Amino acid sequence: MALTEHIVMRELDIPDIGDYAVYRRNGGWEAFRKALKEQTPAAIVQMVKDAGLRGRGGAGFPTGVKWGFLPKGVFPRYLLCNCDESEPGTFNNHQIIDRNPHQLIEGVAISAFAIESNTAYIYMRGEFAAAAITLEQAIAQAYADGFLGKNILGTGYDLDIYVHRGAGAYICGEETALMESLEGKIGQPRLKPPFPAVAGLYSKPTIINNVETLANVPPIIEKGVAWYRSFGTEKSPGTKCFSLSGHINRPGNYELPFGLSLRELIYSPEYGGGMKGDRPVKIVIPGGASAPWLTNSQLDTPLDYEGVAAAGSMLGSGAVIVLNDTVKAPHLAYKMDEFFKHESCGKCTPCREGTHWLVKVLHRVAEEGHATEGDIKTLHGIYNQMAGNCFCLLGESAVMPIKSALTLFADEFEEIVARSGNGHVGNGKHAISLELAGR
Ligand SMILES: Cc1cc2nc3c(=O)[nH]c(=O)nc-3n(C[C@H](O)[C@H](O)[C@H](O)COP(=O)(O)O)c2cc1C
Ligand code: SF4
Repeated sequence: MALTEHIVMRELDIPDIGDYAVYRRNGGWEAFRKALKEQTPAAIVQMVKDAGLRGRGGAGFPTGVKWGFLPKGVFPRYLLCNCDESEPGTFNNHQIIDRNPHQLIEGVAISAFAIESNTAYIYMRGEFAAAAITLEQAIAQAYADGFLGKNILGTGYDLDIYVHRGAGAYICGEETALMESLEGKIGQPRLKPPFPAVAGLYSKPTIINNVETLANVPPIIEKGVAWYRSFGTEKSPGTKCFSLSGHINRPGNYELPFGLSLRELIYSPEYGGGMKGDRPVKIVIPGGASAPWLTNSQLDTPLDYEGVAAAGSMLGSGAVIVLNDTVKAPHLAYKMDEFFKHESCGKCTPCREGTHWLVKVLHRVAEEGHATEGDIKTLHGIYNQMAGNCFCLLGESAVMPIKSALTLFADEFEEIVARSGNGHVGNGKHAISLELAGR
């Protein structure tokens, strides 16, 4: 079922919505005016809670509940908009900024007001140079019209918004590494607790939300909770901008109500349009590289937080990567873990060493086609040692591709072992120690 109106990708309803004058003509910044003039910060927090808005950055945590964690009476407070968007397969934040930037800035402004913050930062992935300029221009237009700055609309409320570009590190999307980076330090995660709401940027109470999350806020304020809840499901209200990629006829971003099935997203002529060359689906990674894999027997999984979790994976960032039967599971695990190895920040041993060894063994198995039973045991051993022992979720995510591959497609590893025959000497332990010696 296609949406008759979009909540976030409004350029599909109003093609020039990225133009400031068009945004204003279509009610732009009126939700902020309403929030400032007619509502209190507490009322806005309650509205966002009632709407059931859930964070789109990965965990699906209820946004209003998160805002409610701020300690009372502690100031200054900061709002950080997370636009690091480096999860493989995820590209909706970039489109929102490119096509509908003013809605994001208005969402940042309303949310900052709701949490009683006078300073907000938009942390951008380093490579998004043009998008950063787009946002800076949108911010300048809002200042020029009196929606940002001092004594906004004569209400006494002050707000400044800054765009900060990182240097292109995936780990800087993790909220505490993001804050370290913003403070000018090396982008490595902090220990939690304390959570950012209590001690975040410059040790002050801080809220971090994703671009898509914050872009949902103005329509909630403008049109109300009941309208928002008319989309999606009871527990996952609203819409999600799914980034669909892989062996799909029509890859792209699709804003759709939560709860439609994976099959609908892939095969509907309006969305994915089916598989390239009509080949069968083999693997679906439903929430970016960090999500456990699904297979073609799970295409009726509803795309909402609960449905994907019940199927054994996670909706994550909503990056749905669909792969056909030409893809070998060991190769896919290798490519994914190569990414995690490259992006590991090196702070903790299980992730730094684990990703290194996963890639080293997987390269031999998947790319060179040499494997022994010992190698397979070694791969199981590495991921078991990593799981639950990494300092942050990057390391835990690196476990997912290899675990999925070994669990769902053990036969493909066995096939490599069988093909290797006598061509590979020694067991996995021996092979590893040779690698160590040559490191
Ligand atoms: C390695 C790693 C990378 C992440 N990258 C992003 C990112 O690019 N954008 C994002 O919004 N959240 C990212 N997150 C999740 C954030 O830590 C945080 O949960 C999120 O920004 C909260 O926003 P939300 O409540 O609106 O979902 C990442 C988490 C991890 C562990
Ligand atoms: S799990 Fe990886 S990314 Fe996270 S702190 Fe450890 S080394 Fe860094």
